[in-house]
Parts: sequence; C-alpha cells; structure tokens
Amino acid sequence: MEKITPKKIFSLKGKRKITAITAYDYSSAYYAEKAGVDIILVGDSLGMVIKGEESTLNVTLDEVEYHTRIVARTVSTPLVVGDLPFLSYFRIEDAVKSAGRLGRAGAGAVKLEGSRPQHIKAIVEEGIPVMGHIGLTPQQYLRMGYRTQGKKALSAIRLLEEAKQIEDAGAFSIVLESIPMEVSKEITDVISIPTIGIGAGPYCDGQILVFHDLLGIYPGRRPSFVREYANIGEVMEKSIKQYAEDVISGEFPTREESFVMEDDEREKFYMEVRKWKLSRK
Ligand code: KIV
Repeated sequence: MEKITPKKIFSLKGKRKITAITAYDYSSAYYAEKAGVDIILVGDSLGMVIKGEESTLNVTLDEVEYHTRIVARTVSTPLVVGDLPFLSYFRIEDAVKSAGRLGRAGAGAVKLEGSRPQHIKAIVEEGIPVMGHIGLTPQQYLRMGYRTQGKKALSAIRLLEEAKQIEDAGAFSIVLESIPMEVSKEITDVISIPTIGIGAGPYCDGQILVFHDLLGIYPGRRPSFVREYANIGEVMEKSIKQYAEDVISGEFPTREESFVMEDDEREKFYMEVRKWKLSRK
C-alpha cells in the first residue's frame, strides 16, 4: 500500500471519510495499520491511558518523541502524526524546534492545540505539515475543564473564525473536539481542509478515537461520545485471573507448555545429579 501523506489526506475531503486513531506502541500501531486506518496520532492522551495521569499536562516532548519513534518504525502506510505536548510550542522558536524533533522521530506531521496561526505558519515554512486542534483542547484543562465548547452562538462563531485562521496559516487538517454537530458541520462546509471529529458529530470529514477508549481498555472516565467497539479490559482481567488460578492449582504450565530433555540426556542428567548430591555429603 502507498504511504499516506498529508497531501493525500487533504485530497480525501468530499471524496470519502478519513479514519484516524491514536496509538503509542508497537502492538497498538501494528493493529491500527492492519485495520487500514489513514492516520495514527501519537497523542498526548498517552499521559492518561499509558501513564495513568489525570490530565495530559505532564506529558513531555521526550515522551511523545519516544512513542512516535516506535509507532513510525512499526507502520509503513498510515500517516503518523506526533502531538506537540503542553509547553513544547507556546513560543514560536520552541514550536519549530519541537516539531523538528517529532519529524526526526518519524512523524509525517505534527498536531498542536489552539488557534496559533503564527506558530503553524512557522512550522509549515520549515517543511513540517501541521494538523490543528480546536474545541475542547485538553492542554487547557486547568482553564476550561473537560467541557463541550461552542454551545453558545458567539463561542461557536469564534470556533469558526479559529478554524479559518488555522486553514489560512497552512494546516492540512484540523481536529474538532467536543463541539455541537451544527458547529462542526458549518466549519466543515466553510473550510477547505478536512475536519477530523472527536465528539463533534457525523458531519466532519473524518473521525478519530483514542485506541484505549475504542477498545474498552482504559479503566478511567469514558466520554459520552466514545463508542466502545470491544471490552478488551474485561477480557484482560478475566484472562489474567484465569492464569493466576491455573498457576495456583498447577494447571499451568502443562508438559506441552514446557521444554523436555531427550531420553538419553535425561538419564545422564539424573546420574550426574546423583553423583553431585553424593559429592556434597
Ligand atoms: O491526544 C490525543 O489523543 C488527541 C485526540 C483525542 C485528538 O489529541
């Protein structure tokens, strides 16, 4: 399969829906690619689903870089997007440097939160494609909480303006998180770059979900917009419980799950054991 580029993602608008999921390690990226998704985001959501923290604020650029390198090494077709974490891009020079580090780690694009046209322009000028992200921006959690944005007409218009600014700055796509579907429909109609929704209704050009939410692995709070396609967490718990019971009862491991010596080596071995024990008396 041909490598998916930001240009390809841009060209899909109006032709077919774009599929995206987060992934952070070899196994999650492997299955995301096998399932045929277009975009893998190495999201700073790793702070919650991998590190078990309350928010994404403690995720560092080193951590996103580490996970981006693993994901980029694992997949060959999907576009890998590295998420710029909190404090790694608030000054323009930092934004360019941080984006460069994720690019070197193998990301084909970076994502940043909020309306920061100057930062986006500067990164794009250095040759790194940018995905925007507006609406609920989890890095602003201390200020906004995890509340749906754009529910009032005036704040919805602000989102429309931000989306336009992000498009004009040169981003190739934009994530719309947790906003009313009327607002995401309007944004999707007005801008020429694809909108990727999460909790933004059905009218976006594509959708993204967090790997651990979609599969029912994350034990923490699940937003109401998530569809859980499996309950792997339950499967994991049941399997580990069964394993522990089998260890205690002696059911695991069986002879078939063990290595066995050849008959002649076994005889020799027991003879040597007898000699060794006698020599220690
Ligand atoms: O970090 C992340 O996983 C994200 C998605 C929810 C869009 O930003």
